Amino acid sequence: MSEKEIAEVSEAAIAVHWQEEGYFQPSAKFIAQANMTDTNIYNRFSLDNFPECFKEYADLLSWYKYWETTLDTSDAPCWKWFVGGKINASYNCVDRHLAQHKNKAAIIWVPEPEEEAHVALTYQELYVRVNEMAALLQDAAKLKTGDRVTIHMPMVPELPITMLACARLGVIHSVVFGGFSGRACGERAADSGSRVLITMDGYYRNGTLINHKEKADTAVAVAASEGQTVDTVLVWQRYQDKYIAEENPMVEGRDHFVYDLLKQYRGKRVDPVQLPAEAPLFLMYTSGTTGRPKGCQHSTGGYLAYAAGTSKFVQDIHPNDVYWCMADIGWITGHSYIVYGPLALAATSVMYEGVPGFPDAGRAWRIAEQLDVNIFHTAPTTVRMLRKAGPDEPAKYNYHFKHMTTVGEPIEPEVWRWYHEVVGKGEAVIVDTWWQTETGGFLCSTMPALHPMKPGSAGPAMPGIHPAILDENGDPIKSGAGVAGNIVIQNPWPGAFQTIWGNRDRYVSTYYAKYCKNPDSKDWRDWPYFPGDAAVQAPDGYFRILGRVDDVINVAGHRLGTKELESAAMVVQEVAEAAVVPLADELRGKVPDMYVALKPGIEPSEAIRQRIIHAIETEIGKIARPRNVYIVPDMPKTRSGKIMRRVLASISNRADVGDVTTLANPEIVEEVRRMVQGDDDSAFYG
Ligand code: WTA
Repeated sequence: MSEKEIAEVSEAAIAVHWQEEGYFQPSAKFIAQANMTDTNIYNRFSLDNFPECFKEYADLLSWYKYWETTLDTSDAPCWKWFVGGKINASYNCVDRHLAQHKNKAAIIWVPEPEEEAHVALTYQELYVRVNEMAALLQDAAKLKTGDRVTIHMPMVPELPITMLACARLGVIHSVVFGGFSGRACGERAADSGSRVLITMDGYYRNGTLINHKEKADTAVAVAASEGQTVDTVLVWQRYQDKYIAEENPMVEGRDHFVYDLLKQYRGKRVDPVQLPAEAPLFLMYTSGTTGRPKGCQHSTGGYLAYAAGTSKFVQDIHPNDVYWCMADIGWITGHSYIVYGPLALAATSVMYEGVPGFPDAGRAWRIAEQLDVNIFHTAPTTVRMLRKAGPDEPAKYNYHFKHMTTVGEPIEPEVWRWYHEVVGKGEAVIVDTWWQTETGGFLCSTMPALHPMKPGSAGPAMPGIHPAILDENGDPIKSGAGVAGNIVIQNPWPGAFQTIWGNRDRYVSTYYAKYCKNPDSKDWRDWPYFPGDAAVQAPDGYFRILGRVDDVINVAGHRLGTKELESAAMVVQEVAEAAVVPLADELRGKVPDMYVALKPGIEPSEAIRQRIIHAIETEIGKIARPRNVYIVPDMPKTRSGKIMRRVLASISNRADVGDVTTLANPEIVEEVRRMVQGDDDSAFYG
């Protein structure tokens, strides 16, 4: 291995060795029905036509009032889109479809227990339920435009109903992934200043009815400890006629059953609030390089235009399609591509409560067969799991996808090919969509009827997105150079987040400071957006995303900050230091591996290890559980005392640790290596 490769024990170093893959063509049948077959779209969205080109996306929506300024850069780099325009997201996703699609399923909900009936909500029913919930939020919960609400719910139809009810009023929702702990929810509620928390008593996961309300009680306490009073907790019920979280009684005056309150609002209608295009629609917290997650603030008009445009052209959603995205609405994929994008296009969006492999590896394909799903959207980690659990299952079911999406992490070409041949039965096009919580919608992807697919590559940039790959000095790396660098987007786009809630400085320093050409400039050309991913561009212009360059680990498509995990471990009082590194995993892409050093005089024990794991589960959630927790005598450190995570990552992944002689304590490296790998030197050097 060369010096350079040793120095970067990152996904980049591993992935750059992938070989070039061949192309796969979309079928004539797909092209014949596709929404976007006009290659000229890339000219229409060229930089010469920027920013006006994005009117094409905005025109997919219904506006109360057209905007005067397409892009306002006066507060750079907090971009404002469609300024002067008035719009409502709930109106666009619900009301406007009633004339033509009132009796069509907006949402089909599939409960995890297979014996429970599916629930189909027509657009008319969605309209009624969103209105009644909006009336409740306004009246009983005293919420008004601009207030924030934290929503901590599983995958049930009441979740999009709640979101759309908030959107109707201009109440900013902050949905926290249901699998996150009560503490994680409470911290986010405090950061966003939510006085209302909306939750559910429980839900099914892997065959078990889980108590979810207990997390709300913790969340309220944690928010209070951070100075935020949550005075109202609205509790949806998994079964309307019972309460399945008896161990966590309803708190008098604070907690209310939504279904009880709703009785007062039967038949109520609430006019959608005509909001400025740049009014925030929601916050979505995501992990960064410090312990505190960032509340990415998304706009109403720009975000919805971008989610709708990309859903139409890249997801190829037509109103008569049955579209199923298996993501969780608690992540950005669920916001943009289960709720806002598909519903803005009057699609039928399928929601599934449970885990894909329950009760067996055929479940997903049975759902697809039963509902005649024709567009399927999931993450590489799920594809890997389904492939491992039942490589031959898809062939047993009579479903036909025209289109499939992969999102969230790089997909290995081998896994891609199984997805294409077996899941897609060789018929479906695949789009590998690269984007982020911050970006609102896709940044790179093939346009499914216009470009051939290439396994492992996200493809070219989306129309109107103009990336470049830069080296550390900001010099561009040419396509085909075979060298990885930092991918940046040179121009703003409507789906981009507006700021980090309450922390503009962090927004600027994390995403714009690195390549900013002039911090005083009001010209967008001086502010390339830095997403924090490494990438290479092939001679054909396709981008291959290699992974994060910051302290974030992508676990099964979910971003976890290493600092968040490390701070959680530090809650255990015996722990002196903690370091988390990514360990390559066959199914989940990456998993965290944790190293801890204890305070002087404390003996390592299994009990301490268990307490550390428990701390991570309660501080963050079970998805963050490390694969291994190694209690080591000391951390490898530089002379200035910085923990060398790179060395630990090499040990975890059985890669060459490189030259460690300049460390303050080089001898510890071999000691840690023996603990982790045993005494097998061939594994070390091989
Ligand atoms: C990674 C999920 C490779 C990337 C939508 C990004 C990907 C992070 C892809 C964002 C892809 C997302 N290929 N890597 N198609 N899509 N990523 O915020 O590192 O949960 O920065 O948004 O996932 O994760 P987030």
